[in-house]
Amino acid sequence: MGILKGKDILHGNQFSRKDIEEIIKMASHFEKGLKKKNSLTLLKGKILATLFFEPSTRTRLSFETAMQRLGGGVVSLGSVESSSVAKGETLTDTVRTVSQYADVIVIRHPRTGSAKEAADAVPIPIINAGDGTGQHPTQALLDIYTIKKELGSLKDLNISMVGDLKNGRTVHTLVELLSLYQARFYFVSPDLLRMPEEITSNLRGKGMEVIETGDMAEAARASDLIYMTRVQKERFGDLSEYERVKGSYIINKAFLDQFKKKITILHPLPRVDEISADVDEYPGAAYFRQVRNGVFVRMALLSMVFGRTP
Ligand code: NCD
Repeated sequence: MGILKGKDILHGNQFSRKDIEEIIKMASHFEKGLKKKNSLTLLKGKILATLFFEPSTRTRLSFETAMQRLGGGVVSLGSVESSSVAKGETLTDTVRTVSQYADVIVIRHPRTGSAKEAADAVPIPIINAGDGTGQHPTQALLDIYTIKKELGSLKDLNISMVGDLKNGRTVHTLVELLSLYQARFYFVSPDLLRMPEEITSNLRGKGMEVIETGDMAEAARASDLIYMTRVQKERFGDLSEYERVKGSYIINKAFLDQFKKKITILHPLPRVDEISADVDEYPGAAYFRQVRNGVFVRMALLSMVFGRTP
């Protein structure tokens, strides 16, 4: 039970299968609990601070929702422009300051490794909500929770990941968690946006089968699940390169209709044009259910970080 008590949540590699099962159990408890009663008092008196140095809709609002549903309070840095960061304050000083007010900090920052830097600077738990192109562990955990619910199992999956595998931090963490359960990965991307070599060789070293291809239909045919991602425009130094690769892969209803089976479609969102609106009614389209699951998983993570179990 105490696996996350007082701990930081920084990287996919910190979790074991047992930890993940504990988190799923707790999230599922909150999911059921919220059907009966929509607020709890488990974290009454605790304060969460959200520090987002990059745009966010779901991650920030679902953390704030989760904390409030647990009876805790939230303080939030409105925007970089309205804070002392605009005056040149360092990340370390900002985090040190906020740790005088809050009991846990959720941070998103464009620099890879920034969440770890923040964690090293303060004694309170730091939760990484995305560090540049690095990691996004809470997203991967809610993805895992969603896969378990949608497919019934996490074991031996055939999964296609499509889009910006180079810059997408959600896939960087998700492959790490899925590889605890054995998986066959189909990585579909333009050449420019391939999964970093370090990650594919690490997966292969762990005995996973990794197939890199440009052919989304071939990958989909072999998969139980497609995890679609947005081309991360903000990571391109040269926007003409973005223009060249954006829109490389688009899933629409006609594409899915060529397969006889139902394929589960996930996306961390936001989408730009990579999933057409006509897919939203497709039975396997799970991305808005995935959004909802984010609240339950973040409730679980927050209560576990405080060592409070219902
Ligand atoms: C993702 C992110 O910020 O990495 N969004 C999210 O947290 N749901 C994916 C993205 O921005 O494309």
